[in-house]
Amino acid sequence: MQYGYGKLILFGEHFVVYGLPGIASSIGLYTRCQFHPNENGIKVRDRLTNKNITLGENKREILDQTMQIILRETGLNGKSFRLEVDGDIPVFGGLGSSAALIVSIIRELNGHYALKLSDEKINGIAFKAEHVFHGNPSGIDNTASTYRRLLWFEKNMSGGKNKIELLKLKKPLPVVIGNTKIIHDTSEAVAEVRQRKEKNPEKFDKIFAQAKELVFKARNALEKGNIPKTGELINENQKLLQEIGMGSPELDLLCKTSLENGALGAKLTGAGMGGCMFALCPDEKTQEKVAQAIRKKGFDSYITSVGV
Ligand code: MEV
Repeated sequence: MQYGYGKLILFGEHFVVYGLPGIASSIGLYTRCQFHPNENGIKVRDRLTNKNITLGENKREILDQTMQIILRETGLNGKSFRLEVDGDIPVFGGLGSSAALIVSIIRELNGHYALKLSDEKINGIAFKAEHVFHGNPSGIDNTASTYRRLLWFEKNMSGGKNKIELLKLKKPLPVVIGNTKIIHDTSEAVAEVRQRKEKNPEKFDKIFAQAKELVFKARNALEKGNIPKTGELINENQKLLQEIGMGSPELDLLCKTSLENGALGAKLTGAGMGGCMFALCPDEKTQEKVAQAIRKKGFDSYITSVGV
């Protein structure tokens, strides 16, 4: 059984699609994949999405297309097996469930067939497979899921290697994830930002310049262990995401609730327009308080930490 982990984008979602830096981390929520022998052909059951496929039977099915890419890239075409996938990541919530699914499948096949794939190779295959789910992904989700660390990410806009730097923190950051339970489609959100940017280039250029500066400041604050400053920058990043139209009333409510209950910063994470947000907390007691306050409003919350 192999695991793929969900991710939290701390800074820079959407802007990373255009080559600006972002900071992301894996989180404790996971997808796991178990290999079983099968007589004839390939079957995959994904309990998270209730998808059950026999490879090749419905080529328009996302899971089928994903498997075709993984088989092509691993050279496992023609094999027979059955994969069982489950986990605890909410799907379509901005926590990288598709990347985690893909990574867990590649890692399970890697182990079973002793392919000796490096993390770099696994990440490269996962990136190709992520295109099935997200159209034109930056690659930040699969990178965070593969490396299982807090990292700095910059997409190489010429198609070469992306910049990936693992970041070290003095101590892990306690966070709470709040789920609006409003599902969204990442590729639609990314397309929406592109349209808005094309309609209003001057406004967006200014916001993009601010977003870039902010991520450098955030890295500095994180590496120095300046948690209050990190919180402030999280709030600033949220404002920029609202300005590009990725907020929602439910996200606003969860961010407000978190801040009122002692969080140092709160913002949406992932594509936005619903999905999840996270709150940076000063300590475990506040973490518990924020998580409960979110639940009291009728939403789901998860306690986790980043930068382990
Ligand atoms: C999705 O988790 C993050 C986005 O920036 C899209 C991407 O980077 O591929 C919205």
